[in-house]
Amino acid sequence: MKIADTVHLPLPRQRVFAALNDADVLRRSIPGCESLEQVSETEFEATVAAKIGPVRAKFMGSVQLSDLNPPESYTISGEGKGGAAGFAKGGARVTLTEEDDGTRLDYEVDAQVGGKLAQVGARLIEGSTRKLAGEFFSAFESVAGQAAPQTAPGAAPVDVPAAAAKPAALDVDVPIVLATAVAVLAALHELGITGKVIDPLREAGAAVEIFVASAREPKEHDVEVATDFVRSNRAGLVIAFGGGSAMDIGKMAATVARTDQPAADFAMDGDPLPMDRVPKICIPTTAGTGSELSSTNIFTAANGKKVWIWGSETKPERVILDPRLTVTLPPHLTAWTGLDAFVHALESSTNRHRHGANDLYSHHALGLITGALEAAVAEPGNLEARGAMLLGSAYAGMAIDNCSAGMAHNISHSLAAVAPVHHGLATALGPVDS
Ligand SMILES: [Fe+2]
Repeated sequence: MKIADTVHLPLPRQRVFAALNDADVLRRSIPGCESLEQVSETEFEATVAAKIGPVRAKFMGSVQLSDLNPPESYTISGEGKGGAAGFAKGGARVTLTEEDDGTRLDYEVDAQVGGKLAQVGARLIEGSTRKLAGEFFSAFESVAGQAAPQTAPGAAPVDVPAAAAKPAALDVDVPIVLATAVAVLAALHELGITGKVIDPLREAGAAVEIFVASAREPKEHDVEVATDFVRSNRAGLVIAFGGGSAMDIGKMAATVARTDQPAADFAMDGDPLPMDRVPKICIPTTAGTGSELSSTNIFTAANGKKVWIWGSETKPERVILDPRLTVTLPPHLTAWTGLDAFVHALESSTNRHRHGANDLYSHHALGLITGALEAAVAEPGNLEARGAMLLGSAYAGMAIDNCSAGMAHNISHSLAAVAPVHHGLATALGPVDS
């Protein structure tokens, strides 16, 4: 039996090829796959439960990759025994062709069955095989879109400098979007931080695209433009550098970019947040909003109202707190953002939602912030004070995530909707007015 077909995948060719060699991606994509273990660079052992026509069977067997020509083509072949049901064996030649909007995958399957399966009839077997192939590629597109596949066998090895040691989630062929704000990018550049982060990633083969956001509080247009940027670059990872605005924009864009809907559809508990999301890393450069540990992401809707996209799905998979990134923040912004963090801890420990478990975070945050804020304002280079502020801000972010904020934030959000007032300053004024 021979089957040939073509599938279009909206993913870069190198990524498709790497995913086709990745045991985890294959295991999650093959219909009925109960286990798939890599036993050598090009060999796997698998157990698959399948229904072919009226015959149900559990196949156990081996899979080999051969004729590897990365990232263009390979042959995958295997043989599985299904006990009383019989056996199946065969191979598929897979060819990948780059296209403007992704990769065209052509495959030619040549398969044979024996035993009870051979009595099912060629037409039924072909129908079942086509159905299984359709299910495989549908799952593969989704899994390969999220996964960070390992370097494909046969591909040129990539030398990653030791200094660029990276978490496993960062792989060389994952397009990365760095979302940041104008002032933040300049400050990071001045500190040499941009190069320290971006250069090793690029040297390791990652395509890094930089999205520069406005430092103002996000508006609906800002979120939609960022989402389109992440979407059009098919980002495999979003790194959100900056203060609350940049991090909120990066988090929202990464969360919804793999849909074809505008971000606004998901605001105020509108549509459920998607299951398929771009992973994200938050790196705060101010000690204030605690957005890096918060489920709430705020923007001003087109009608002028403050709205939010809420959900633990929007939280980043990793957070990096580095006090060196905050030393160029001017004293007045250090004070405003620090007071915002203070108010987060204060409100979450005094409003009607507060509880003893959350006080562990809010009280610890209050201790860190009250002990370090003055020093951070007076001595911008004081890394101990900057570090305590970053940690206090993060704990305060967790605290409002658990128990919400209070009247000071109602006042500051109302103020920000009518005038460009810094959120930290507006929030710090809140307790005075209320
Ligand atoms: Fe706040």
